[in-house]
Amino acid sequence: MTPPSERTPPWEDLYRENTTPWDKGAPAPPLLEWLSDHPGEPEGRVFVPGAGLGHDVRALAAIAGITEVVGLDLSPTAVQLASSYPGTGRETYLTGDLFALGETHHGAYDWVWEHTCYCAIDPDLREDYVRAVHGALKPGGRFLGVFYLDPYDDDHPPGGGPPHGCSLEELSERFERSGRFLIEESYVPTRSYAGREGLERLVKMRRI
Ligand SMILES: C[S@@+](CC[C@H](N)C(=O)[O-])C[C@H]1O[C@@H](n2cnc3c(N)ncnc32)[C@H](O)[C@@H]1O
Repeated sequence: MTPPSERTPPWEDLYRENTTPWDKGAPAPPLLEWLSDHPGEPEGRVFVPGAGLGHDVRALAAIAGITEVVGLDLSPTAVQLASSYPGTGRETYLTGDLFALGETHHGAYDWVWEHTCYCAIDPDLREDYVRAVHGALKPGGRFLGVFYLDPYDDDHPPGGGPPHGCSLEELSERFERSGRFLIEESYVPTRSYAGREGLERLVKMRRI
């Protein structure tokens, strides 16, 4: 088991060195699949924690009913690079810590989009993650996420990471049985990055 102190990568250094194997240079395929299956959604303000280079932010900002997509990342270099891509003008990229969100983010969003932030953080911080995204959403707001349930193989066994896997049972316990969210949709996406086929789960929830 990796000690907790080693479970948080030096994100800024990795972006500076261009050591970013998680960055595929394109929006997450399960997001694009969900968007094409749900015309007219999402709407309003969207929050993307751990947005990296912002490919998902820009895909969301292209949806007509969206007024702003705020992509937050710990790494100033990631934020700077994300800002350098052409967009719609509805994208905002911020450097910051999901676990220290300022007042302006509290109850400020209609939707949260999660993609490879939950699996990137130290699993001991997952309760804080759920609290943070719940706090950022307006009551009745929606959390839409693709969870990398099983990122493990021979080179990357359980206990290493990130990415850190999770189970459906854990998601249900943390998000739903905690009384914070109601799961509305949950399925294995048909479209995934190469190598992640069948290993992810798309989950949509309503914030209580
Ligand atoms: C695996 S990367 C995924 C980035 C992006 N979602 C993607 O798919 O390319 C995880 C991202 O989360 C960011 N991150 C980690 N902990 C964070 C925190 N506490 N607050 C904000 N961002 C965080 C990292 O800097 C990194 O960009």
